Formats: sequence, C-alpha cells, structure tokens
Amino acid sequence: MGDPVTEYTARLLRQEQEIRSLSAEIESLKKPQTLGPSQEMDELRDENTKLKYRVNILKKSLLLEGRTADCSKSMTNINHRLQEVFGEAIRAACPELDDPPVAVAANQQAKFGDYQCNSAMALAQMLKAQGVKTNPREIAEKIIHNLPDNDLIQKTEIAGPGFINIHLKRSFVSKLLSKLLINGVQPPPLEARKRVVVDFSSPNIAKEMHVGHLRSTIIGESMSRLFEFLGYDVVRLNHVGDWGTQFGMLIAHLHDKFPDYLTSCPPIGDLQSFYKESKKRFDEEEDFKKRAYQCVVRLQSKEPDFIKAWNLICDVSRREFQKVYDCLDIKIVERGESYYQDMMTKVVKEFEERGLSELDEGRWVVFVPGQPIPLTIVKSDGGFTYDTSDLAALHQRLFVEKADMIIYVTDSGQATHFQVVFAAAQMIGWYDPQVTRVEHAGFGVVLGEDKKKFKTRSGETVRLMDLLDEGLKRSMDKLKEKERDKVLTPEELTKAQRSVAFGCIKYADLSHNRVNDYVFSFDKMLDDRGNTAAYLLYAFTRIRSIARLANIDEATLRRAAETSEVRLEHEKEWKLGKCILRFPEVLHKMLDDLLLHSLSDFLYELATTFTEFYDSCYCVEKDRQTGEVVKVNMWRMLLCDATASVMAKCFDILGINPVGRM
Ligand code: ARG
Repeated sequence: MGDPVTEYTARLLRQEQEIRSLSAEIESLKKPQTLGPSQEMDELRDENTKLKYRVNILKKSLLLEGRTADCSKSMTNINHRLQEVFGEAIRAACPELDDPPVAVAANQQAKFGDYQCNSAMALAQMLKAQGVKTNPREIAEKIIHNLPDNDLIQKTEIAGPGFINIHLKRSFVSKLLSKLLINGVQPPPLEARKRVVVDFSSPNIAKEMHVGHLRSTIIGESMSRLFEFLGYDVVRLNHVGDWGTQFGMLIAHLHDKFPDYLTSCPPIGDLQSFYKESKKRFDEEEDFKKRAYQCVVRLQSKEPDFIKAWNLICDVSRREFQKVYDCLDIKIVERGESYYQDMMTKVVKEFEERGLSELDEGRWVVFVPGQPIPLTIVKSDGGFTYDTSDLAALHQRLFVEKADMIIYVTDSGQATHFQVVFAAAQMIGWYDPQVTRVEHAGFGVVLGEDKKKFKTRSGETVRLMDLLDEGLKRSMDKLKEKERDKVLTPEELTKAQRSVAFGCIKYADLSHNRVNDYVFSFDKMLDDRGNTAAYLLYAFTRIRSIARLANIDEATLRRAAETSEVRLEHEKEWKLGKCILRFPEVLHKMLDDLLLHSLSDFLYELATTFTEFYDSCYCVEKDRQTGEVVKVNMWRMLLCDATASVMAKCFDILGINPVGRM
C-alpha cells in the first residue's frame, strides 16, 4: 500500500523526466510547434501542476501535524512523522535541489524494518540531471548522517541499491498506544475545518431504486462518515430525479385513475406498475400523449393542482426509499433536481451572456475545449436537461453552500457527464480546481454470481427491499445453523440478524475497490471465514469478551491505561502495536483517493494480526483444574482494548453496527 505523498512524488518525478525528454525531442525537431509532443507536453504540465499542488497540501498538513503531535489528543500518523524527519535530512543532504521529494512507506515484511525511505534513487537521478556526480547509496548514507534528533527512530540501515530501512523505537510506539487508550480513538489533525458536500444515493422518482443506487448509498454514506470523523462539515445530499417529462404522463394517468386525488389521497400501492401503465398509454394513445405534454407545461408553470399531484407521486416514492434508508441507517437531505428549477434559468443565461453557449439545431449547447461531447443546456422544446440541473446544482453548492469539496457518487457510466460539467464550470470561472476539490467518485456495476448483470431468476431487476429482506432471511438461517437461537434472547437474536445482514451487504461492497465491477453473492458475504463482515463481527465480539470473561471492568482498564506501560517485547505484541497505529495513515490515504476498501483491508489485517497475537501471547492465565483466573497480563489486556477500539471506529466509518452478543 503506497503512501499518497510518495506516490504523487514518484509520479511528479516521472512526469518531470518526461517533460525534459519531450523538450529535448522538440528541440531536436527544430520545429517547436509540432503538434504531437508539444500538446502532450501541455497536458503533462497541466497534470504536473496539479500534482505539485497536492504534494504541497500534503506537506503542509505534515508540518502542522508535527507541530501539534504532542500537545493534542489527535492520533499521530507515523508515516507523516517519518516524512518530516526524513524531509529535513534529505534537504540537508541535497542542498542542490529545491524541494526534493521525500518517499516513506510502511513495510509489509518485518525483516526490512518497519518503514522504508526510498528517496535516494530518485534523488540521485535528479542530481545527475544537474551534473552532480553521485550514486543512491552515497545519498542514502548522507541522508542517514543528516537525520535530526528524534524520538521515533531506533535504527536505520541501507539495503540494496539505496533503500533505507527504518526501525521504530518500541518506547515511541508504546507511548502512542497509551495515548490512544487514554484519549480514545481520535482523528489525525486536519488543516482547517472544511465543508464537504456528498451527493449520493439519488434514485429517480417513480422509477426503480436499483442495485446501482444501493452501491451509491453504501459508498456515499461511508465517505460521509469518514469526512465527519476527520472533522469536516458534511452535507449529505440526495439528488433525486424528481423533475422531468415523465411527470407529465404520471399526472395525466393520475387524473384518469384517481379523479378525486385533490381531496382524498390516492391509494397507489405500487408506483412502478403505475409508471408502467402510464408509459404504455403514453406510447399507444395519441390523445393521452398530448395531455401528458400539457401536464408537463402546467407543472413547470407551477399550477397548484399540478404541484399537488406531483407531490403526491413523489411522496409514494419517498416512502419506498425511506424503507431502504431505515434498514441501512441512512440520514440524508433530499434535494432533488426540482430544487434547482429557478437557478437553471439563471445558469443558462450566464452561459449565454458570456458567449459560451451556442444554438445547434434548436438546442442550446456548450462546447468545452478538450471535452469529448458538448453539454445540452436547453432542449429544442425549451426544457432543461440533466446537464442543466447539474450545472445549477454545482453553482449552488459552490456559491451558496460554499463547499470546499464536492463529491458525486454514481456509477462510472456517468463519468463523462461529470467530467464535462466540471470542465464547463471551470471554463466559466466558477471554481479553481487548485482550491476547490470537485470530484466524481465512480463505481463499477453490480453483477450476479453468473458474472452477468444482476437480475432475478426470472430476469427482472431486483427490487432493493426484496434484496434486503432476503439478506435478513439468510442471516437468520446462518445464525440458526450455528444454534445461536439457543443461546441468545429473541431480542439479541433479531439485533444480531440485522447487524449481520446489513453489515454484510455493506461490507461486501466497501471491501472491493469501487472502481471495479462487483459480484453480489450472499453466500460469500455471509461466510464467517475470510475478509467478510460476518468474520469481523465475530472476531470483534470475541475480543470484546476477553476482558469481560476475566472479570476486568472498564474502570480497571482505564486506570491501567494511565498507569501501566504497554509492553511490546514479544514479537507478536510488537507487530500488533504497529498495526493498530497504522490507522491514521489509512485514513489520510482514503481522504486522498476516496477508496474505502483500504479501510476494510486494514480492518481485516488488524483482526488477523490480533489472532496471531492472541494465539501466542497469554492475556489471562487460568488454573488448569479449576478454570479460575490466576494471572492477568494487564499490558496485553490493554492491547486487546486498543485493538477493539480501533476496530469499533472502523466499523463505524463503514456504517456497520456491531452487537454485544451474537
Ligand atoms: N438520479 C441519477 C441516477 O439515477 C443520479 C444523480 C446523481 N447526482 C447528480 N448530481 N447527477 O442516475
């Protein structure tokens, strides 16, 4: 797992090299304007600027962290601390370079040390380019020689061509663990409080809320929780499709089927078949079609009776969506496309006045240089589009919500749409990507176990509520199979059932890289072996019960945290201690790439590292005959406690709700 600063720096270096070689190429062609290389170079320069910006932000937060590390409750990102220390050494070792890159990464294999600094190779190349004769090993030696006094490094050694293996001080790790136990799991420090809008879930009224919306809901909620934990102001927005021509036919059909809808609430049980009926009539009956169009016009001019009809229909959908949100524990603000109606007119005008839109066969379109397709902002019938509402929504989020960050969670199929919308907004000058982060977090499609599009056996789209109900049924079957119904009270059993069912569905999604397609399989997600929520939930309850079974209460543990040292002499204690403290590093990485599977990877690694520890280190020693506790190894109980606290926080960010007994 690479660290963001390291990764960006490496990319930066590669690009800089490419730019240099392209410059040379242009030079040798003696035709500086040749399209190929120079265009390529512009693009590279562009991306290069962005990378530099990101690296700088990361560096700034490093500095800030160093300053606040000891005086605050925040959790220390060890990687950041090392980058600080090595940054200083590298700058001293290579005074010829301004802003030399610092690359530090955690080591998976303990024999190469706990962390590694890999900068020497890149630095040697950079120096060579400046005509300084040197080699990576020599630079690595110089770096080590220039390391400032610090409290975290035990020793370093040079390996291979110039890698520096870093061994941490046990006392440093032990102190951080004590701090964690005393203060609880705290977020790493942040530059400043920021406001982030997360646009997710966003189903369409009267249409199916499908598995794609389920993914968006699960991923968007987890991202929001991550931002919240990191100290952001989070605005969760449900950009429902609640405005559009489909309402014409829905309202016309409502008029026919429930003529007294204004006085008594129409009993539409199944909005989807209602939608299908009206669609059929729209396609087949000429007269109905005409009326449907009139209804759209009257709705858009906000005639009260039409607004009422529209609201009635939206309410039916809303109730359906709410059932899903209740199961998944989602609280989100509904702010659908209709919310932006009046703003769309203004946005269209702004593009027109700035001369950035043009008439094309009766439609108003916006061409953005470098983008594959134009945006259509007004259709030939005068109506607005998905493009228009997204421009208006972006404007509102930038200027009214004053968001520092705006994230859109939808399937990757919409990537181009967002790319062009963002580019148009930059072209008209609404935001500077170096200041405001506007990003589409796309995800792959959900597949069935046959690797084909997720469908029911009879080939229909799966209804979300049916899916969640099946999850509940299957999780109860599993619990009964393990005879948990004989041990737990009925109330505990239901709690465990929900925790496992919804936890597994969420975790299965969040434990895969969202960019890839993902195969939905109840059998896999409910398996209690391997990287699944079922396994982790069991592991967690087991860890939590260690102290309880040894009769150690909260107060005793707290006191121990303050008075006894967390010893890390045993190899497995040491491994576990370091693993627990990687948490802030994982959070920082996710903040950067918005890929949540790093957290489940970490959670799984923590659980298995704990098992290794627990298998070889006695926490509680019991009398073989009587089973009575004869000795409690308190520092190990503290390690159990720290593991459980970090795991609990991971579950929390993933939106999973562990139960006391299962
Ligand atoms: N309603 C859209 C759909 O179902 C998703 C909306 C996503 N958000 C947005 N601002 N476009 O595909």
